[in-house]
Amino acid sequence: MRLSDTAHGPGPWPLTAERDDAGVLHVGGVALTDLARRHGTPLWVVDEDDLRERCRRYRAGFPGVEVAYASKAWCTTGILQIVEEEGLLVDVVSGGELHTALVAGVDPARIVLHGNNKSLAELDRALERGVGRIVVDSFEELDRLEKLAAERDTVATVWLRITPGIDAHTHEYVRTGHDDSKFGFTLSLGLADRAITIARDLVHVDVVGIHAHIGSQIFGTDPFVANAEVALDLLARWRDQHGVTLSELNLGGGMGIRYTHEDHPVEVARYGEAVLRAVDERCARHGLERPRLVVEPGRAIVGPSTLTLYEIGTIKTLPGLRTYVSVDGGMSDNIRPALYDAEHEVALANRTGAEEPMSTTVVGKHCESGDLVREHAALPSDVAVGDLLAVAATGAYTESMASNYNRLPRPAAVLVRDGQVRTLIRRETLDDLVARDVDLR
Ligand code: LLP
Repeated sequence: MRLSDTAHGPGPWPLTAERDDAGVLHVGGVALTDLARRHGTPLWVVDEDDLRERCRRYRAGFPGVEVAYASKAWCTTGILQIVEEEGLLVDVVSGGELHTALVAGVDPARIVLHGNNKSLAELDRALERGVGRIVVDSFEELDRLEKLAAERDTVATVWLRITPGIDAHTHEYVRTGHDDSKFGFTLSLGLADRAITIARDLVHVDVVGIHAHIGSQIFGTDPFVANAEVALDLLARWRDQHGVTLSELNLGGGMGIRYTHEDHPVEVARYGEAVLRAVDERCARHGLERPRLVVEPGRAIVGPSTLTLYEIGTIKTLPGLRTYVSVDGGMSDNIRPALYDAEHEVALANRTGAEEPMSTTVVGKHCESGDLVREHAALPSDVAVGDLLAVAATGAYTESMASNYNRLPRPAAVLVRDGQVRTLIRRETLDDLVARDVDLR
């Protein structure tokens, strides 16, 4: 049975996830029991078909629009190589992400550099390597780029990041479009206008467009439509008031995904349709040509493709209170439940277990009570030590936010497809953990 499409509606599992007759979960034609045996746990298992399919659906859902993968969601060489093969641009936000993209062999012209506090070194490397677009976030950066580009006798091609004043209803930590944000030039306070006034007189900075991203894990199309409308109104106003015609518009990322059966994200096709309709309506109203459009999803590309595989190590039953089920990872490989109260669906991977489910609290192995994997997880009542647990939709913002808290080595990641397994990231070793330490004896 395919898990991505169950009797209860679409599930949060990768497209090729299915159970065999013995109840063992398979992804990409590989049994998770085999993966656990050969690669150990915790393990990120990436369904390559799913990942490629998300890239394709995004491109198909936004015809004529460039799709840039926001690599902060998962920035590792192999993932970047796959998304580039699928025709996506790559968005990076630091020297480290930029370096990874360059090492992966991504064409620098197809890289977009973001960040609200890029260092001189980061900006200079971007100029040196010919990064396609730099997204300018501050007045200081305009100044720095003008100087750095002059020294290199080049011109920086940039978008101005504007803060459109749109309050998307999502977790406070992942909202970026509202006025009180550290990102971008706030439109309502006149900062965006001041930025374009300054920028148009610069010799070594060429503003070709604007960028507006409103937040992450957003359901529904209305906030995205509003964002597009605000951005196009601004382009029209700048044309009229400042005589500046900008031909490019990046509308950011933020499309929500399904983490549990209770999540109902919109299909990317419907999202694309709604946004493009709004763009065309606004262009017609203002007599603008449709700008070169870019969207910038991270989570929706990589999130659903991956599950995390853990082994259950201890089970503690507190009669009348709850049952704690502990796995061999936790907040070091997925900080999202602790940081955002995020919920990820869980399921046994090695068998289906008793029909009668019970409510459990799945926790990690860290020395912190907030080290939660899933509260109210329905697991079979015969769940046992040694069972394998799969946690759904962990491709986005898990590996990229992983730590070595309590000196846990970070997990390995494997790519599965048609019964083949490729290692994406090798497991960290105990020696890796002390490799940067300086011995004082
Ligand atoms: N573009 C910009 C400028 C962004 O800041 C982000 C995400 C994206 C694109 C991609 O957004 P996405 O399509 O992935 O929603 N760690 C949090 C999410 C932080 C998002 C940061 N910015 C989480 O685990 O939910």
